Amino acid sequence: MTKIKPVNVGLIGAGRIGSFHGETVARRLVDAELVAIADPASGAAAKLADRLGVDASYTDVTELLAHPGLDAVIIATPARFHTNILVQAAEAGKAIFCEKPMSLTLEDADRAIAAARGAGVTLQVGFNRRWDQAFAEGRAAIDAGKIGAPQLIRSLTRDPGPFGADPGKIPLWTIFYETLIHDFDTLLWLNPGAKPVEVFAMADALVRPDAREKGFLDTAVVSIRFDNGSVAVAEANFSALYGYDIRGEVFGSGGMVTMGDVRRSSLTLFDKDGVSNDTWRRDTDHFIHGYTAQLASFANAVRNRALAEGPTGIDARNALAIALACIESVSTKQPVILK
Ligand SMILES: NC(=O)c1ccc[n+]([C@@H]2O[C@H](COP(=O)([O-])OP(=O)(O)OC[C@H]3O[C@@H](n4cnc5c(N)ncnc54)[C@H](O)[C@@H]3O)[C@@H](O)[C@H]2O)c1
Repeated sequence: MTKIKPVNVGLIGAGRIGSFHGETVARRLVDAELVAIADPASGAAAKLADRLGVDASYTDVTELLAHPGLDAVIIATPARFHTNILVQAAEAGKAIFCEKPMSLTLEDADRAIAAARGAGVTLQVGFNRRWDQAFAEGRAAIDAGKIGAPQLIRSLTRDPGPFGADPGKIPLWTIFYETLIHDFDTLLWLNPGAKPVEVFAMADALVRPDAREKGFLDTAVVSIRFDNGSVAVAEANFSALYGYDIRGEVFGSGGMVTMGDVRRSSLTLFDKDGVSNDTWRRDTDHFIHGYTAQLASFANAVRNRALAEGPTGIDARNALAIALACIESVSTKQPVILK
């Protein structure tokens, strides 16, 4: 039997999601190996490397890219660094898995796409909902024509509360760039081939009204009209006290699919207080299988020197275009026509 050579992965950014992705590569994938970690924060890479049994840790991305035998990188830094690191990794000939959002401007998105294309490296973006079983089955049902032509589409993100972060430390427009960007990708993906033509967004600070004046937004509703006539709604809120609630729905001419359940499992407790269920509290619990599947697929594409099966740079650009339209719409209080 031929032994499969593992894909050698370097992690860039050892924060919350980077640590989780690092753990996925090191412990949950059988044919990928985490060989190096880079993070400029003092001790961050070394500490994670120690925990995961990785020999090499760096404070500099350039050093990580020069690590011998490195095939691929996972970029999990704050969003504003993604494009430059992506371009640097592509120029070094490394395959790239980049967390969302890939870029914050369309110019940067084009730069990222061109760099990966020019270097001929795999580029996949972290829209993990596509890998969740219910969402994947929903898309398969749509592809099989089971619900006919999509007419009304819905995607929502309610992050688990209580919201405890310092709003002053959250970059402006995060609700569109980093939260709803997942929903925009989901809506595009569940409406295959359709192009968004008009976007209207409303947003406010309802969780932290005291931070509204500084431009902080924690609640938003977005409506999107597509060129196939369908209409979509995306909504988000940063503080669902009952748990981490992610749902999708597509209503079509022949039926409907619904996806997502805040309940942790099929366990229902019946007791003196009534009937109850536990709920998801963290993305990394709810989507552990999807997060793992997306990196397994990425590793497979890298091994086969193939295009990513999952979301590409173009998909990231398409979702970003909606996020940018939302920012314009909230700023002008007007609908935005997409070209
Ligand atoms: N797909 C998802 O479900 C999901 C979930 C969480 C976060 N994310 C995305 O992942 C990214 C990171 O989020 P996070 O919550 O882990 O952030 P975080 O702040 O916890 O971690 C970011 C890490 O990157 C490091 N860093 C900063 N600049 C760097 C550089 N130039 N090179 C290398 N490392 C650098 C920081 O020191 C920090 O350790 C964001 O873009 C976020 O939107 C995606």
